[in-house]
Amino acid sequence: MTDRYCVFGNPIGHSKSPAIHAMFARQTGEDLVYEARLAPLDGFAASVRDFVAEGGRGANVTVPFKEEAFRLCNALSERARLAGAVNTLSFADGRIAGDNTDGAGLVRDLAENLATPLAGRRILLLGAGGAARGALGPLLERRPAALVVANRTAARADELARHFAALGPVRGGGFAELAGEAFDLVVNATSASLAGEAPPLPDGVFAPGALAYDMMYGKGDTAFLALARRLGAARLADGLGMLVEQAAEAFHVWRGVRPETAPVLAALRAA
Ligand code: ATR
Repeated sequence: MTDRYCVFGNPIGHSKSPAIHAMFARQTGEDLVYEARLAPLDGFAASVRDFVAEGGRGANVTVPFKEEAFRLCNALSERARLAGAVNTLSFADGRIAGDNTDGAGLVRDLAENLATPLAGRRILLLGAGGAARGALGPLLERRPAALVVANRTAARADELARHFAALGPVRGGGFAELAGEAFDLVVNATSASLAGEAPPLPDGVFAPGALAYDMMYGKGDTAFLALARRLGAARLADGLGMLVEQAAEAFHVWRGVRPETAPVLAALRAA
């Protein structure tokens, strides 16, 4: 029987995940279907229960349910525990196992698709919400020389940096404190691009050859990437690669096979 998967979110209409997983399934010969499901804002847990009752084997979770998914799980991977959020659920024997593939997807996109080394580099992470939190563990695992978390609300960045201090050289602060510092990689994990806004970055924040990376994506430059271009970032990337890589990682969690991401990313870019 064909195994069933889905992604829960609200809104969910424009999700690319069904198309991505359909391409992965075709490519690997795995017998599965994957659909998008709108969960009511106050009905995430019930939606998950319904899907399990219908025979669902696993699910992805997107905005705004990742923290609630974390609380729903009977078992958590170490990276999900660190992230405090879950984007990948596996259902078996009446139990829910939670994982988080977002940070791994980001690091894989950076390291493989964008050939950007992280070891020994200076990294700036913008934002201190769920997206930033999920990225911190996997980024620190790659042994950067320094990782600075900067946020509109500086105290949240401080708190996040303290939480991850045991894993590497990380510190937090506000945007104003970035004056005079330069970074090899600047990752935007704020939701500012959604409102067409960009964090206020000072001149000189991009070191020569630096990559500006926005976890968001859309047609054309996001507000952050437009700013990065003006500030002289050598390279720009949006979050479409991260989306495909986190999906591949989830596919691997569920099926034990790792799909090739390059043709899928190329197909999405062409569409
Ligand atoms: P997510 O789970 O997507 O990270 P979140 O937890 O609501 O969402 O966090 C949103 C992040 O974007 C926060 O770091 C937020 O800054 P504050 O902590 O100061 O709220 C940041 N953010 C949202 N809009 C922003 C804007 N216009 N400029 C700068 N930062 C913004």
